[in-house]
Amino acid sequence: MKKISLFIISLLVVALVSACGTAKNESEQNTGAESGEQKVLKMATSADYPPFEYIDTAKGSDIIGFDIDLVNALAEKTGYKVEVQDMDFNSLIPALQAKQIDLVLAGMTPTPERAENVDFTDIYYTANHMIVSLKDNEVKSIEELEGKTIGVQLGSIQEEKAAEISEEVTIKVENRNKISELVQELKAGRIDAAIIEDTVANGYFAKDDQLAGFTLDSSEEAGSAIAFQKESQYTEEFDAALKEMKENGELDKLIVKWFGDQK
Ligand code: ARG
Repeated sequence: MKKISLFIISLLVVALVSACGTAKNESEQNTGAESGEQKVLKMATSADYPPFEYIDTAKGSDIIGFDIDLVNALAEKTGYKVEVQDMDFNSLIPALQAKQIDLVLAGMTPTPERAENVDFTDIYYTANHMIVSLKDNEVKSIEELEGKTIGVQLGSIQEEKAAEISEEVTIKVENRNKISELVQELKAGRIDAAIIEDTVANGYFAKDDQLAGFTLDSSEEAGSAIAFQKESQYTEEFDAALKEMKENGELDKLIVKWFGDQK
């Protein structure tokens, strides 16, 4: 009798444990696509970067742009919902590392240094560095930067580019949190030039005829990729969706929508 009840108890225990196991697996695989409730992924960006991400104050307070359209299209394919928040560019990678957010789309270039701390998808758009200055005091070559003050966004690869340039010519480097601040400083004469990606610089040129610029060697490409937490389960899913969008022309459509005939 004792033996039988012991046997029944152990059967019950096994049943219970395996039930817990399945329940846990199901919640882990709650990728939205299968379950009714869509999982919300927290995305952060630095909304100072038209046409990638910006707030068009004339139209409202929402963050809009190429990266926002892209992430929404990818989320639809992968079955997630995405919530967007704004922060300084320099805080994006630390926020991913601290697991405060799930992903970053911010025209961010997948550099080897960054890839030590976060995971990147494939590149979805490529751009080049531009040296932007005022037409009245135009800088037309790297040599002409000699003795000048040059502005870059804090934590960007343009900051590294400036360090590289400073090995060739003597320059003073100033950094700011936002691209709009760089343009203001330029116009106020506090800096002589700024390094800004061509796609973003072209947007400023279209609105402001005081500005001029030239593109650095195309070997200095600054591509954009999506960043996730290290070892994130989402990287692969988003990469697959991105590949689909590259192949079926959806990505090109978004590029034409936001960058027009720049490319
Ligand atoms: N591609 C450059 C980088 O990764 C600049 C990106 C700046 N992005 C922004 N949203 N302000 O460093």
